[in-house]
Amino acid sequence: MPRRFTEPAYLAYQYGDAERLRARHEAHARFSENRSHYIDFILGHLEPLPDLLLLDVGCGHGAQHPRMKQQRMRTVGVDRSLGMLREAAAQARCDRLHVLLARGDAIHLPFADGSVDRILCNHMLYHVADRAAALREMRRVLADDGRIVIGTNAADSGRRLLRLHDDVAAFLGYETHPPVYASFHLGHLDEVQEVFPEAKLKVRNDAFRFPDADSALRYYASALIDHVDPLPEDGSHREPLLQLMASEIRKVVDSEGCYRVPKNAGCFVAGAT
Ligand SMILES: C[S@@+](CC[C@H](N)C(=O)[O-])C[C@H]1O[C@@H](n2cnc3c(N)ncnc32)[C@H](O)[C@@H]1O
Repeated sequence: MPRRFTEPAYLAYQYGDAERLRARHEAHARFSENRSHYIDFILGHLEPLPDLLLLDVGCGHGAQHPRMKQQRMRTVGVDRSLGMLREAAAQARCDRLHVLLARGDAIHLPFADGSVDRILCNHMLYHVADRAAALREMRRVLADDGRIVIGTNAADSGRRLLRLHDDVAAFLGYETHPPVYASFHLGHLDEVQEVFPEAKLKVRNDAFRFPDADSALRYYASALIDHVDPLPEDGSHREPLLQLMASEIRKVVDSEGCYRVPKNAGCFVAGAT
């Protein structure tokens, strides 16, 4: 996997604030075929109960926190990005949620052994260079009768958009590399079972149904557009990629009525039932 996705410079660029992540959340909320909410799928597997202590590892700007608080769990979010934590705190104030937030790294969680009832680790492990250490750390802080849910994408999630990006980037003379979740996707149950032997895989089928090129491009411009080598520091790759991608996606929308991109995802679930 390209080391870029675990490097501080990439993480600071992608998650220094929530702008890019928000664009992706918004695309999922507005253009997903599966109208049930992804967080409800996750919460269903977490088996929430009032007053349990939930640790959200790599919580980002806390997009899932309002739904978690509806379950009346005590929620603590940990993230290594101060910018994300600031936005999570602002959102919590706005929503009048009581959520504790702490800066921390998944491989050194600031919690005592066995002190947490539930752990959510959603779409973040592919950013950790030593995933085994992060999994062991989550095992350490999880209570013996606790439960953990680790969310990620299917290996072929978003393939239609990825292939188009590869073709357009190649036309412009760029190499491309696999998506961020290539290093940790739903095919990595074995890796999780090394630390949580009882872990099981749960899959959720879904697809984007973008009604026009602009909606697909907002999603594309939030991350995938930068998967080119060499990556120009001045961002000069973006405009030509956007223009060519737009004209290709418009052709699909004209012939198919929308731009449909399958994006199956899911989670690994372990712990007491
Ligand atoms: C794709 S976002 C997911 C955010 C959130 N879990 C969600 O579902 O919206 C990945 C998050 O993981 C955080 N992150 C990356 N590496 C981390 C690490 N080693 N420890 C803690 N947080 C990390 C990033 O700052 C970012 O907020």
